[in-house]
Amino acid sequence: MKIISSSSSRELSLKMAAELKCELLDTERKRFPDGEMYLRILGDFRGEDVVAVGNTRNDAEIIEFLLMINAAKENGAGKVIAVVPYFGYARQHMIYKTGEPISSKVMLSSIENFCDSLIVVEIHDLGTSKFSRRGLVNVKIVKPLVEYYKDRKIDYVVSPDDGGLDRAKELADLLKTKSFNIDKKRIDSRTVTMTVPDIDVKGKNIVILDDMISTGGTIIKATGLLKKRGADKVYVSAIHGIFANGSYDEISSITQDIVITDTIFGKWSKITVAGEVAEAVRGVTNGA
Ligand code: R5P
Repeated sequence: MKIISSSSSRELSLKMAAELKCELLDTERKRFPDGEMYLRILGDFRGEDVVAVGNTRNDAEIIEFLLMINAAKENGAGKVIAVVPYFGYARQHMIYKTGEPISSKVMLSSIENFCDSLIVVEIHDLGTSKFSRRGLVNVKIVKPLVEYYKDRKIDYVVSPDDGGLDRAKELADLLKTKSFNIDKKRIDSRTVTMTVPDIDVKGKNIVILDDMISTGGTIIKATGLLKKRGADKVYVSAIHGIFANGSYDEISSITQDIVITDTIFGKWSKITVAGEVAEAVRGVTNGA
């Protein structure tokens, strides 16, 4: 087995190579004068299974990942296992207004054209899996969060919306503590209203856990509300840290501590998903 990484996922790919005890191959990338991307996998992988790791957070990452898995397939890889730690375009898994595309379906079918298995990490909405022809593997990340918080005397794990309550509850159960969710209503892409239920959080240590931080609006508002209610320490955590519009500074000014995984590597990537993803890779290769 060999690993190839797109430019978005170098740090995670190195850790996965160590977990899976296999070589991470280099990739040559450049731009043609007209702006198109050129990509070439360096090294020998003919006949071997290839694990291709890359995010699809923006248009450049998408084309890079598609070129990479196609290169693996066209050049004689055994099985191509596509690993998309942060599967972008997953928000639109249905038509909300007439005339819209189903972007998660576009992404899924494009990737599945050139791979034998597709592994993602905590996709925004599992509704996307119904478009999969190959059986999407969605890896959940709980144990690394338990390790991070187990000695911090947490009283509540809070989800900033009802959709994330199961995730918060799972972490709370393993930390032997309680969970609840904030009632969040999205008015438009920039405005949300949030209401904390009538639970006494005065003097309590709280972990807010969300699937992703994008603009930071949700997490900033949730932190402010819990502090206003008298919470003592408010820790912020999310699986994916996008930090759109440079929201780093505002978030770090209002919270005790921030922890993000390395699906999108950044300064707060304090925990890795490499172990869980490597296990999923073993699962698809052994089960194949
Ligand atoms: C919403 O459904 C998600 O779980 C996140 O809460 C949301 O995407 C975070 O976005 P932002 O950081 O822009 O508030």
